[in-house]
Amino acid sequence: MFRKKEPEVMRDLPTHVAIIMDGNGRWAKRRHLPRTAGHAAGSKTFKEIARYANKIGIKYLTVYAFSTENWKRPEEEVKNIMGILRDYLKDIDNFKDENIRLKFIGDLTRLDSDIVELIAEAEEKSKNATGTHLNIALNYGGRDEIIHAVKSMMNENIKPEDITEQVLSDHLYTAGQPDPDFIIRPSGEYRLSNFLIWQSAYAEYWFSDILWPDFKPKHFEKALESYMGRNRRFGGI
Ligand code: FPP
Repeated sequence: MFRKKEPEVMRDLPTHVAIIMDGNGRWAKRRHLPRTAGHAAGSKTFKEIARYANKIGIKYLTVYAFSTENWKRPEEEVKNIMGILRDYLKDIDNFKDENIRLKFIGDLTRLDSDIVELIAEAEEKSKNATGTHLNIALNYGGRDEIIHAVKSMMNENIKPEDITEQVLSDHLYTAGQPDPDFIIRPSGEYRLSNFLIWQSAYAEYWFSDILWPDFKPKHFEKALESYMGRNRRFGGI
């Protein structure tokens, strides 16, 4: 296990890790269970990995919980995922001691009003936490985020000549946060699926066949070890 007291290890840990939590449905299918059982198991994994990231000192963790495209799923499944989120948010007081700072990124206007209220409450309650900044991407799409940023810049009457990469970054949902260094996608898919498409310009990637509900801290460690062995050049030599 990575311990906070090993400076030579800490130095190389990615500051910002992003995870596409994929494979819940296949995990359930293999066990002849309904897809909802896969999401319940995936939610358990999410909590375990967030706790572990905080423990080893990952400063930013972003997880893809629900995309702008996920509304196309059967209504029952959407309801189930929203129910899992609702339960997580209602339970937030029990995670107080974990010192995790919560932020939701995405277009939250389409969500049920009680979820929007619970989100605001959870963000407010955790705002002074000094551990991992945990971003949960909900009704999130990278293209949608860029359009939202462009609209905000236009509403602020920012002149075209004043628009720089930094100005655009400052109008994304992740404004003020460092770009992800490392993106993890389990479940044997090799694509970004509209996740953090602007922010991931120089990210490193790690793919694996493991389905998200089976993803354990030991797999996270393996991924981080792979990251720490890489030489990032950011376009230089
Ligand atoms: C992708 O697997 C998973 C989702 C679209 C939902 C992810 C949601 C959770 C893990 C719950 C998160 C909970 C909190 C509290 C943040 P899939 O269903 O696309 O799997 P498949 O590709 O095998 O069908």
